[in-house]
Amino acid sequence: MADSRIETDLQTDMNIIENITNIYHEKFGHSPAHIARAPGRVNLLGEHVDYNDGFVLPAAIDRATYVAFSPADAPHSTLAAVDFDQQASFSAESISTKTQPDGSPLPEWTLYPAGVMWALMEEKLLVPSINAVFASDVPRGSGLSSSASVEMAFAIAWQTLGGWTLPPMKRALLGQKAENKYVGVNCGIMDQFASACGVENKLLLLDCRSLEWKTVPLPDNVSIVIADTTVRRKLTSGEYNKRRSACEEAVRLLQLNLPNIKSLRDVSVDNFNRLAKKLPDEIEKRARHVVEEIGRSNQAETLLKVGNIQNFGKLMNECHVSLRDLYEVSCPELDVMVRIAQSLEGCYGSRLTGAGFGGCTVNLVAVEHTEQFANALAKGFESETGLRPNIYITAASNGAELLK
Ligand code: GLA
Repeated sequence: MADSRIETDLQTDMNIIENITNIYHEKFGHSPAHIARAPGRVNLLGEHVDYNDGFVLPAAIDRATYVAFSPADAPHSTLAAVDFDQQASFSAESISTKTQPDGSPLPEWTLYPAGVMWALMEEKLLVPSINAVFASDVPRGSGLSSSASVEMAFAIAWQTLGGWTLPPMKRALLGQKAENKYVGVNCGIMDQFASACGVENKLLLLDCRSLEWKTVPLPDNVSIVIADTTVRRKLTSGEYNKRRSACEEAVRLLQLNLPNIKSLRDVSVDNFNRLAKKLPDEIEKRARHVVEEIGRSNQAETLLKVGNIQNFGKLMNECHVSLRDLYEVSCPELDVMVRIAQSLEGCYGSRLTGAGFGGCTVNLVAVEHTEQFANALAKGFESETGLRPNIYITAASNGAELLK
């Protein structure tokens, strides 16, 4: 492909594995016993509804975190993060204080693997100390769940060394617990679920209340194109947690008239419209997004099954408007990326993906137009914003696994 910013596949897979293996060897003086891999994810529909018991439609992507590891012959684990060019240690004893054996605080990137160790220990599972080197080609802070991919890769690593086996959904739940209780981000289950349970070439439809899920085929004639604005957010910054609290407040207020509801999932659009004026403006906007987005994601399976990509794409476009105007998690660069995409030939739908506040858009594009679309999108975005975007034509991949 002519434009180097547009990548169609993961030529980096083997390079990353070779790199972490070599660095592991240099640091620890022997080859790693194992390599684990866990993917990032892209979400097509059902945004900011997982923590409201709604339905989400993500896919694991062909970008992942890779960990080279062996059991450590020491009371503490030593981890090297190639992407940060840093190393840190923690032990079962120091984990709850988030410190290294020398008393210094754990660097932020360490909180994700350390959080997983903490969550596994809470389950009373054997979590041996580990020597590990890891790297990722999931862009960080981009809405593609780089943190969940780190968590799920380390869950595989400790499962391998601990000699126990947990079902993928249980690993996902422990990753979510690590993020909620250890890292301090009140995220839902979607990211860890997609990273743990991904299936090649399939979308995943998850009911976030029952945790039942199934695969949904993506028609052959469409590609998923991810467009990274390169604008970065910080999920821990508090805006995400604020959105979640607003939803909880909406439930509390709506329960005054609808005592049986447990979450916004239980509120129909009609009931919501009837009661909306009783809510403070901001709470109303946040809750309206969630109630309507759950309605949209409810239609996804049927539309995809009959191959009605046109209408599915319309729902994606509506989702973006709602995330922009009601949930207020977009940003000018995401809006520009979506506007240009929606104007291009072959684009069925385009919207921001993930938590928002920067990061990526997801686009469904007719296969025959994909290359042209990607080039025109990159060019248009750069000329309007001065930013060089990264465009990935992605394939749905398998979930977290042990490669060696
Ligand atoms: C982040 C969270 C997810 C989900 C999305 C928004 O990625 O980790 O649980 O809430 O935002 O849909």
